[in-house]
Amino acid sequence: MDWGLKNRLSRMIKPSTGRSVMLAVDHGYFMGPTHGLEVPRKTIAPLLPYCDALALTRGVLRQCVDASADVPILLRVSGGSSVLSEDLSHENITTSMEEAIRLNVAGVAMSVFVGSAHEHPTLVNLGKLVDEGERYGIPVVGITAVGKELQKRDARYLSLASRLCAEMGAHIIKTYYCEEGFDKVVEGCPAPIVVAGGPKFNSDKEALELASRAVELGAVGVDMGRNIWQSEHPVAMIRAIRAIVHDEATVKEALNVLEEGKRPNAPVVSSKAKAPRT
Ligand code: 5RP
Repeated sequence: MDWGLKNRLSRMIKPSTGRSVMLAVDHGYFMGPTHGLEVPRKTIAPLLPYCDALALTRGVLRQCVDASADVPILLRVSGGSSVLSEDLSHENITTSMEEAIRLNVAGVAMSVFVGSAHEHPTLVNLGKLVDEGERYGIPVVGITAVGKELQKRDARYLSLASRLCAEMGAHIIKTYYCEEGFDKVVEGCPAPIVVAGGPKFNSDKEALELASRAVELGAVGVDMGRNIWQSEHPVAMIRAIRAIVHDEATVKEALNVLEEGKRPNAPVVSSKAKAPRT
């Protein structure tokens, strides 16, 4: 691995803990102005100091994030279907590597739809993206997307999809957590795994439990969206997630971080759970 690629990876996966809290705000690329992300700038600004990488599209990056922001960017480069489409797997590469370099990103991300009508082109595109990533020193995140088929998220499917992305050369795999056999998903995937949160749980506690079990079983962190910015207390929530991912906090301790963070003018609660940049 060349220096530039290693350097960019270490900006997203923190060498001090070997972990990462990525904040996903790329949902608009197929969902439009979904709840909590109607005005991306407003959602993103307060959370920015607490994420190790910000996952989004070039449109939201250019329009809604100040160019002076000191945050590694994980640029989504795939898209092409909307939530109105029957088949969400009909995606292609929509943003070039040249554009990613122009935007000074830390990494690029694309969805792969294993088992779907568009399995073949998405896998081949991932291979090509990795070729370009290796050429220019840009890490590639392979996302094991399931479209509307959320029931697909079992260990057998996630192991297959994650492994395929890793075999294609993706440097990080973003997949889902599953209750049964997540350790096997991690074991069978030679690249580091971050987990998405999925649709908003009924409670913040459930999302903290997901993050806790995922890192306990070997994930290097999360790339989480809705369970952070659709929470009633997004900043407190991302701090609590940081406590789990970077400080080895238990769910109980993370819930304390969450409760403290809900108070007006809440103090910074622990060394690594606090903002890495102020
Ligand atoms: C959207 C994505 C999201 O980034 C990913 O699903 C993470 O967000 P969430 O925690 O809300 O599931 O890839 O297509």
